Amino acid sequence: MSDKFFWFITTLALLAGCQSLSPKQPNQDTSAKPTDAQWWKEALVYQVYPRSFQDSNGDGVGDLKGIISRLDYLSSLGVDMIWLNPVYASPNKDNGYDISDYQSIMKEFSNMEDFDALLKGLHDRKIKVFMDLVVNHCSNEHEWFKSAAASRESPYYNYFHWWPAEKGKPPYRWSIFDEKGDAWEYNKATNSYYLHYFSDFQPDLNWENLILRQEIYKMMRFWLDKGIDGFRLDAIAFCSKDTTWPPLPEEYKGNWPMYYASGPHLHDYMQEMNREVFSKYNIATVAEAMGDVDRVMKFVDPERKELNMAYYFEAIDFGYLPNEYKMPDPKGYDLVQWKKVYAKWTDAFAQKGWGTMYLANHDQPRMLTRWGNDSPEFRDVSSKMLTTFILSMRGTPYYYFGDEIGMSNIKFDRVEEYNDIELLTNYAQVKAKGGDLKRFLEGMKISSRDNGRTPMQWDATANGGFTTGTPWLKVNPEYATVNVALQEKDPNSVLNYFRKMVQVRKKDPVLIYGDWQLVDAENPAIFAYTRTLDTQKRLILLNFKATSAEVNTTLDLSNAQVLIGNYTDAKPGKSLRPYEAMILELK
Ligand code: GLC
Ligand code: CA
Repeated sequence: MSDKFFWFITTLALLAGCQSLSPKQPNQDTSAKPTDAQWWKEALVYQVYPRSFQDSNGDGVGDLKGIISRLDYLSSLGVDMIWLNPVYASPNKDNGYDISDYQSIMKEFSNMEDFDALLKGLHDRKIKVFMDLVVNHCSNEHEWFKSAAASRESPYYNYFHWWPAEKGKPPYRWSIFDEKGDAWEYNKATNSYYLHYFSDFQPDLNWENLILRQEIYKMMRFWLDKGIDGFRLDAIAFCSKDTTWPPLPEEYKGNWPMYYASGPHLHDYMQEMNREVFSKYNIATVAEAMGDVDRVMKFVDPERKELNMAYYFEAIDFGYLPNEYKMPDPKGYDLVQWKKVYAKWTDAFAQKGWGTMYLANHDQPRMLTRWGNDSPEFRDVSSKMLTTFILSMRGTPYYYFGDEIGMSNIKFDRVEEYNDIELLTNYAQVKAKGGDLKRFLEGMKISSRDNGRTPMQWDATANGGFTTGTPWLKVNPEYATVNVALQEKDPNSVLNYFRKMVQVRKKDPVLIYGDWQLVDAENPAIFAYTRTLDTQKRLILLNFKATSAEVNTTLDLSNAQVLIGNYTDAKPGKSLRPYEAMILELK
């Protein structure tokens, strides 16, 4: 075997400054990469929400020049790939997830020249780029829709789904972002209703139309030919519809998204897309998938030739009360059950395909508040624990901007402070039903997605250094003490721990390709698992609680070595302090 099959640990030069934390070097020259190794399995993805990363011109909105000004920061993190939320032209009613022109850049973010400069800047630093592609729907301001909505004779009429009014009322379809919950909207000029699974300004594209699909594939090639490295396919599971429009099947009652994710030609389209586009490039693709293991697996089973990766919702949606919109269970979440969810999915991807790991993104609150502890006492240590978790699981990690400094939920008190269409729609629905608005807003302090969209906290100057103007969404006042500048100076900061953990993962094939096995499954406080590759074994111990806890295992820790730990004086052992995390090399 040539040495390209081996990874050797090198000195972690980057971390030279952090003596108290400096990781031990695992001995791993016996662990080979598996034959199905792929760059995107080894990559660490960092998500940049462009609107909230850095404003360059004082209009309060983050932009491409802003990201360009932070390229060295991105490079200093050691991440391999950036996922950019949509930067295409958009009226921004769903912050870019309503695209009015797929081949130009949103005015607020600047222009194609800056996009090209950003792409080059990232590539020069060996960082790849994922574009977020929203093709289940577009904006009602897209030229296709404007033309279609003007006349049934328009060549674009069949780019959308219509129900002619002469046939009476359309069969009920539920909508995600519609106050009335109705996915059909009447359009006078054509005397017909158009379909919108999301808001009425996000008309669904008609994938049953081959001409539309070809148009989308052409647009994908445009971006790939520019040199981008992959796509995140937004809401893609919804793209195929049964256009005989049968009544919604009873079995999906209360769970319409699952029905929407079962369209008759969904996987034919994924395979066609792969044949016509993806197979011609060395790229990565990830689906925002829906549903159970069987459904999600279909996207990523390599034999089916569809996509590379998918993320699933079962773990991230855990701990909410049933039948309510993201209302956190006041009892908190049951760690034992949560571990079982991870075990189920991780085991499934061990058989086939490849998984993803994330605790936050632009549709989620801050991971620290939701899964850790944002009190002054525990915020740092629990942030580091969660980082250790994300980066030691099996599956490509997707890490959300700001989590590397331990940003927390802003917890708005008033509905007027929110911007997000999802929250505003749900608020209006609770209000219309005469529901308890106070209770709703309390719950949203934990779960609403605007918590994860507040601007990046760069330093202690006004607005955290994000903008010199008025930010589009309030900056979390914690910026005075939680910011990049302060953490750069502290070798034990959350930020420097993230950098170190990135290196630990990158240099250790056991953490990337190793088998995963849950340890002490019934432990109510500790999430523990092993990763094993050939003769190499790691034990990961994570205390998810604010009290000390003991792991119950027969594994012999007497010769174990700490590769990384979130307490500076970490020692191998079975008892863990509050939120303690460590990765042990077992011998
Ligand atoms: C996806 C996006 C979300 C958006 C929705 C509609 O779920 O992640 O932000 O609102 O699709 O496009
Ligand atoms: Ca700006």
